Amino acid sequence: MSTAGKFFDWNIYQVYPKSFKDSNGDGVGDLAGITEKLDYLKGLGINAVWISPCYKSPNVDNGYDISDYRDIMDEMGTTADWEELKEGLHARGMKLIMDFVANHTSDKHYWFEQARSSRDNPYHDYYYWAEEPLNDWQSWFGGGSVWEYNPPTGEYYMHTFAVQQPDLNWTNPKVRREMRDIVDFWVSKGVDGFRCDVIDCISKDFERRKMADGPLLHDYLHELFGRREVEHIFTVGECRTDESTILATCGEGRDELKCVFQFEHLDTGRSDKFTRKKPDLDGLRAVLVKWQNFTQSHNLPYVIVTDNHDQTAFISRAGNDKKLRYESATMFAAMFYMLRGIPLIYQGQEIGLPNAHYDDISAFDDVETLNYYREHAGTVPPDELMERINFGARDNARRPMPWSGGKNYGFGEGKPWTALHSRGGEINVARDLESGKSVYAFYRKIFELRAEYECLRNGKFEDITPRDGCFAYQRRGENGRVVVVCNFEKSGEIAVPDCGGLRCVLSNYGGEGRTVSGEYAPYEAAVFVGVL
Ligand code: NOJ
Repeated sequence: MSTAGKFFDWNIYQVYPKSFKDSNGDGVGDLAGITEKLDYLKGLGINAVWISPCYKSPNVDNGYDISDYRDIMDEMGTTADWEELKEGLHARGMKLIMDFVANHTSDKHYWFEQARSSRDNPYHDYYYWAEEPLNDWQSWFGGGSVWEYNPPTGEYYMHTFAVQQPDLNWTNPKVRREMRDIVDFWVSKGVDGFRCDVIDCISKDFERRKMADGPLLHDYLHELFGRREVEHIFTVGECRTDESTILATCGEGRDELKCVFQFEHLDTGRSDKFTRKKPDLDGLRAVLVKWQNFTQSHNLPYVIVTDNHDQTAFISRAGNDKKLRYESATMFAAMFYMLRGIPLIYQGQEIGLPNAHYDDISAFDDVETLNYYREHAGTVPPDELMERINFGARDNARRPMPWSGGKNYGFGEGKPWTALHSRGGEINVARDLESGKSVYAFYRKIFELRAEYECLRNGKFEDITPRDGCFAYQRRGENGRVVVVCNFEKSGEIAVPDCGGLRCVLSNYGGEGRTVSGEYAPYEAAVFVGVL
């Protein structure tokens, strides 16, 4: 097996802990809540869990503003709860992936409190300072300049994200040492991997006006992860992913990151984050085929992802989340999760949870969403603005997970920290599991097939799509092949070449009599196995 394939049998599930399960009734999801649900995840076929930040934090950006990298956020529990969660995972043969937020801290981190107090403070150089704003860079969360005035020192500090998230100065070797120690601290406690938040932002290029992907990125990554002590851990970077960056970051022998996310396909169905456009599924197919071919030809890993805590539900953007919700959710599941790569799904995806909808901005909490609302409130008509917010808000992915139709949809006893999902009564875990059309059961079958058929983990990807309006591909291994046929929104005939001797093992319209070539219904997907 190639080194790229080392993680192809990890089925990763992302938990946004604040919204997953509240075990103690304070309205906030917590670590004990995740531990409660480990059998649920194991039953789905998950064997690795990535937890978005659960470190000490004032929660301006729900934990992506860390005030102590070695401690647990009060609302989420204690280090003992964390140990229990880790033990619970490992006892079930599951891995634990933590979030590693290296570009910035909270302004309440001890380093920043010291740094901002005076120019002579030993921590001053842990952050970027300037007498005047160095440029006109704008915060990625909206809200204006990345430069914020700090009266005690009479200088400006830089924050790529919220004002309360000052950027660390990675050119300072002391900062690099601190971050290495944090990695080592968690690895020595038994963490199996890290998801590395906006990792390309750690190197900036002020001269060439680049906020990310600066000239020292690869040196820093190598220094952080290219060490014997951590070579066994899984790392996935959130960063820019053109071909040359991918090769430079996770190519064979680079010893930087094991893999990076590829998000190009996530633009399906939108012209920008808050504006809808008709989804172009043929375009989506072309993007997927491009990256499958590229990563395969360079023997690189690929992370298969459609949803996360920053994205609205993929099925709401690219599919039909009303009448054909089950069909869209399962068609995309088959389309993506049989590809060559490491499957990663996001909480709620396994029950086909779509976007929510609210008429009032008071139902929204996210810093980016609220900045967008403020900035457009005077110029965009109110109805249209709410339409945009409902379409693009990250809050969509952060609604308390609906576990049942009961109180707070089973999230917890106390009043949840943010509005419940507006469709939680109709779509929740309990209902999905009871339903004859269970999205969970479909995903479970996908993970079973990936475990059973070697070609789904290590086999070659080949696009065999016969025409527009559908996507057909095969995975060919040493002992057999799997063919996946996905029809898009319009019904029609699909004639797949070279499709003899195949048996249907999964279908979202009932597999009885399903042949590879033939008439397909809207969002119909079927998976077939056969000899070479
Ligand atoms: C990317 C994370 O995914 C997002 O949720 C966060 O707000 C920013 N980085 C800042 O850490």
